[in-house]
Amino acid sequence: MKIIIINGPNLNLLGKRETDVYGDLSFEEFYNLLSEKHPNVRLSSFQSNIEGELIDKIQEVGFSYDGIILNAAAYTHTSVGIGDAVKAITTPVIEVHISNTFSREDFRHKSFVSPVASGVIIGFGLQSYELALVSLLENKNASET
Ligand code: DQA
Repeated sequence: MKIIIINGPNLNLLGKRETDVYGDLSFEEFYNLLSEKHPNVRLSSFQSNIEGELIDKIQEVGFSYDGIILNAAAYTHTSVGIGDAVKAITTPVIEVHISNTFSREDFRHKSFVSPVASGVIIGFGLQSYELALVSLLENKNASET
């Protein structure tokens, strides 16, 4: 089971950035804990602040991996290109957000990813990533049994 977490802009600053909203754990610390908890998953992660690099990565993995957990961060609300990339691929994409974007500014209520994602998990802190991982694992099992 090959799953990748793709993180968009400013998520490299987790642990330092607006800790009241995003918590004080760095993504690396969280990712290490998550990988240890799921040793049977071939988990990897990718982060970029550049829209085109995120699209390149979605295209690169999107026909061979078993799942993509995508937090496109601010590009969620602006990027037709990322939405189109998710639509173009065959790998299921779970959109995640750490914060509850619907309890925040209006511009965060719009997502170009949600209409083309397999599922959306919002507002559970970093646990959103784990909930997405578990859902991908369970759906995989469901299709195998
Ligand atoms: C975010 C929510 C976005 O609105 C914001 O731009 C982010 C992070 C989240 O995970 O809560 O950078 O995607």
